[in-house]
Amino acid sequence: MPEIKFYARKAVPVEMHKVKIVQKLSLLPARERLQRMYEAGFNTFGLHNSDIFMDMLTDSGVNAMSDNMQSAMLRADDAYAGSETFYRMRDKLEEIFGIPHLLPAHQGRACEHIIAQHFVKSGNCVIMNYHFTTSKAHVTRLGGHVEELICDEGLITKSQNPFKGNIDLDKVRACVEKEGASNIAYLRIEAGTNLIGGQPISYANMKAATELAKEYGILTVLDASLLQDNLYFIKTREDAMQDKSIREITRMIADLFDIVYFSGRKFGFGRGGGILIRDEKIFHDMEDLIPMFEGFLTYGGMSVKEMEAMIVGFDETMDMDVISQAPQFIRHCVNALDEMGVPVITPAGGLGAHLNAREILSHVPAEEYPAGALVAALYLCGGIRGMERGTMSEERNPDGSERIASVEMVRLAFPRRVFTLGQTEFVIDRVKWLYDHRHLVGGLKFTHEPKTMRFFTGKLTPTSDWPEKLVEAYIADFGEEG
Ligand code: F0G
Repeated sequence: MPEIKFYARKAVPVEMHKVKIVQKLSLLPARERLQRMYEAGFNTFGLHNSDIFMDMLTDSGVNAMSDNMQSAMLRADDAYAGSETFYRMRDKLEEIFGIPHLLPAHQGRACEHIIAQHFVKSGNCVIMNYHFTTSKAHVTRLGGHVEELICDEGLITKSQNPFKGNIDLDKVRACVEKEGASNIAYLRIEAGTNLIGGQPISYANMKAATELAKEYGILTVLDASLLQDNLYFIKTREDAMQDKSIREITRMIADLFDIVYFSGRKFGFGRGGGILIRDEKIFHDMEDLIPMFEGFLTYGGMSVKEMEAMIVGFDETMDMDVISQAPQFIRHCVNALDEMGVPVITPAGGLGAHLNAREILSHVPAEEYPAGALVAALYLCGGIRGMERGTMSEERNPDGSERIASVEMVRLAFPRRVFTLGQTEFVIDRVKWLYDHRHLVGGLKFTHEPKTMRFFTGKLTPTSDWPEKLVEAYIADFGEEG
């Protein structure tokens, strides 16, 4: 989507697609939303989809498909072994990434499981620019540990830095010297760094980091789940790359890595995943794990219909019109909130708009999960479902104390090609209302706390009757039905 110029109006993002199929939404009355929030244990993962107006939990597996993706599903070749769909997928990925071997897996974390299972031994270190919940959990489950060596700017919430996802090369060198290269299972670079606000990493930084790894003989792994946003940002923010096409940039990035894996729920707009492996021996050494954990080697737990759709989705990801949509909507939302004084993570990244819950709810103690409270409050104030990305998403320290997240955020994801500008304006309006009434929001505490990834299935309760008071204030301004 090129920047379309406006004549008489303030410029807004313009979609380069039209809507052909729609799903009806409903906005429950505010008091009913309060009831649903109690039933969900004040955890937005526990809500039913039918109780939600704007589902901004994630962009994972909920992106709109194009007409071409849907029609491709009809030619899916169902076979337990040897499906033609698999070979088409492998060939398309080789065409785009230039990497010949593909291990299919049912989603991104399944790829992480297989990679960690093969490479991580107890006591090993995995270096990352920043962790993602599942990518870290698979390493620690095997007795490994993760070193997150993000540049200092990455954790500064308000910034002009165009590439806050960059890894700090001095810290990488120091870490390798300290751990010893042979103890490092791999270097994992995450494109579009999820947990710090979908912030991109520059091509120059990826090149330097992978060269450093190669100097020490360390395996390099790219998590390409959010590559589409990162490609958009490299194209629009990295001077040296402006005259390269998206395909050329993708190939240049892939050339730096030994292994590239992705969640097809994001990359490819479908539901699946895959691991691309350059070295034939490593590929054969790893392949036994696929039939054991995922499915036979030519479907890896995926539906072949989804695989066919993703093959088209991969090509669409190489189209600047397609990959510009989310970053432009996100920028519109982030800039509007920023101008109204709402603390947001800047610059706007990919994936979603990110609210700085630590600042918005500075009166809520870190141990009472400000981001968890803010995301619950936002559902009460407009039926908007976001995701907590802060201390609740961390695991406790071994001594039981809270590991306070470096960044305490609420993420409002923008699934691709799904929401309209009118809906985006509604979200901006309700976030601003909530910001102006933030003093009404209190904390949360766990009533059921799973040990691993508690943010998925944990249940919480408010520390006072703040949700009731918030809903009454909301009804006073918007009425029962708003
Ligand atoms: N890597 C990154 C960078 C991700 O954002 C995700 C998923 C995964 C790996 C795992 O992929 O979900 O297919 O198993 N992120 C989703 C999200 C869950 O909501 O941000 P998956």
